[in-house]
Amino acid sequence: VEELSLRPQVLKQYIGQHKAKENLSIFIEAAKMRDEALDHVLLYGPPGLGKTTMAQIIANEMGVQFKQTSGPAIERSGDLAAILSSLEVGDVLFIDEIHRLPRAVEEILYPAMEDFCLDIVIGQGPSARSVQLDLPPFTLVGATTRAGLLTAPLRDRFGVLSRLEFYEVADLCAIVERTGDIFQVEIDREAAWEIARRSRGTPRIANRLLKRVRDISQVKGEASISLETTQRALEMLQVDHEGLDQIDHKLLIAMIDSFQGGPVGLDTIAASIGEESQTIEDVYEPYLLQQGFIQRTPRGRLVTQKAYEHFNQEVPRT
Ligand code: ADE
Repeated sequence: VEELSLRPQVLKQYIGQHKAKENLSIFIEAAKMRDEALDHVLLYGPPGLGKTTMAQIIANEMGVQFKQTSGPAIERSGDLAAILSSLEVGDVLFIDEIHRLPRAVEEILYPAMEDFCLDIVIGQGPSARSVQLDLPPFTLVGATTRAGLLTAPLRDRFGVLSRLEFYEVADLCAIVERTGDIFQVEIDREAAWEIARRSRGTPRIANRLLKRVRDISQVKGEASISLETTQRALEMLQVDHEGLDQIDHKLLIAMIDSFQGGPVGLDTIAASIGEESQTIEDVYEPYLLQQGFIQRTPRGRLVTQKAYEHFNQEVPRT
């Protein structure tokens, strides 16, 4: 229940992502004026930035039902056909990790998105026939970490492409304070700011850190969460001053110590620290790139001077 109520319900409550909000609010208003379903929306960006929340808000703002599934959950075309045929006029169907839909399932989506038409094949072999069912107009909201993971035909069928960005510290601070209100805990302004600064631009991380900081503050018997307690808690959680965690450290240290700072290929780094390449690329790398700790080059990843300085290491001369 706490988790659910943490999510803002309408655009007005949603903090940050100013560009995406501004655009979506206009498209929503226009669709409502025309009494039409909103065009299909693709939300993309690193995990934890609020793609699912935004999809729910779209349904709330449109005043329609929200149905949710995910790419890996739909194994056969019949599964998707069942979901599609349960939709009512204007509904939002949210498919998380849409890039992981099996190809045969994806092909059911094309006519469904384009013509609100369900093509199903009945039977097998020479007696197989294809039947077509009309669907009500609906809105597909797809979410993925990178738009480039989608096949071109699927990507082309979205009318609205919206990229969610890492949050600014001030926005994360407002989110931490909002979550504090929901938890009914007092938090000093500097403490909220510290959590925000060290949350890798990501509300999901900020809210998780706030919960752990709250635990420690509560056990100490504080009336209001202090900066000092926050700093101690983050140290215990092994979150450094820039918000980098143990895996970020392993990654950067491996690049510096084992690969002379690069360039080194993603798969090589992944193997050397025992993480999946895809996880590094989708979860860890985006923030390190945005903050300028690493760079991508055609020959592989490079650590930057900022990374050497972060670990108090001398930048090797080239
Ligand atoms: N909680 C998590 N993300 C949020 C956001 N973007 N706005 C408001 N509350 C949030």
